[in-house]
Amino acid sequence: MIEKIQELIQEIVNFEVSNAEEADQFRIKFLSRKGLLNDLFEDFKKVDNASKREVGQKLNELKSIAQSRSNEFKERFEAGSSSISKDLDLSLPSEVSELGSRHPLSLVRKEIIDIFSHIGFTVSEGPEIEDDWHNFSALNFPEEHPARDMQDTFFIEKKPDITLRTHTSSVQVRVMENQKPPIRTISPGRVFRNEAISARAHCIFHQVEGLYIDEDVSFADLKQTLMYFAKEMFGDKTKIRLRPSYFPFTEPSAEMDISCPFCAGKGCNICKGAGWVEILGCGMVDPNVLENAGIDSKKYTGFAFGMGIERITMLKYQVKDLRLFFENDVRFLNQFKSAF
Ligand code: DAH
Repeated sequence: MIEKIQELIQEIVNFEVSNAEEADQFRIKFLSRKGLLNDLFEDFKKVDNASKREVGQKLNELKSIAQSRSNEFKERFEAGSSSISKDLDLSLPSEVSELGSRHPLSLVRKEIIDIFSHIGFTVSEGPEIEDDWHNFSALNFPEEHPARDMQDTFFIEKKPDITLRTHTSSVQVRVMENQKPPIRTISPGRVFRNEAISARAHCIFHQVEGLYIDEDVSFADLKQTLMYFAKEMFGDKTKIRLRPSYFPFTEPSAEMDISCPFCAGKGCNICKGAGWVEILGCGMVDPNVLENAGIDSKKYTGFAFGMGIERITMLKYQVKDLRLFFENDVRFLNQFKSAF
């Protein structure tokens, strides 16, 4: 029987077909229910136990050769496949794999850094896990003061308090402790607040803090700097307005609005008809804060500001839901490719 199988293997290996019909005949002859292989498997039942193993192996070898030959013939004559192989040009360059793109928040972060670096601001960073002094006390938030509730805080440890920083204003303090004026710096970074996630709020987001300390720095300097920023970021026609506000670390404090970038101040559903949208908080650094960080408040004055990168990005690119920034859906991210 082994010899018979070997002969068939030879026959199959040398078998040639020239069209689909012949390929099918091959299959019928060897592999169909009434084909030669099935007959052999029938005969195999009668083989004595001593040679079953050897014959069985050979038979399986035959079967797999027949099967792969049949598949080969079938593929060769399947519709179109012969023309594909004829036209295949192996010298063509391979397909270029798709490149990713920068995340919109990184794009805007970079843009903010570029804008301020043109007027001499450096970039400084600080830790995301922060002590009470840098996140609150040095910034003129007295202990137990209700102003601390303005920012719902994630605590890592209590007494002494270690928190996830609630704002990048903490970096102001670190910079002032470590550098002598003049100081001109911005501090981009991630901040954390214990807030429910919605289209307008998230427990993790990004801010950029600005700080300028020197002799004779005035509110007019603050206003001019922010006006320059607004026009660079949102276009030359952008107007700004400052509204009085309260932050413990600045006095006086203000919030800055820009003319709505969508309707140019006419009033639309983004600015809720007001023509203005808020983009940041700012003010003159409170003398207590300067003193806390070891800077002579009689000699030096300064201004500070803080803005949310998500907010600026939403206004710049008309993103209506903050959660999109954190889902990393490529259909969303791909839309920022051209801005790369
Ligand atoms: N730290 C403030 C916040 O997270 C933002 C801010 C307001 C920063 C006024 C400042 C400032 O430096 O002067 O809401």
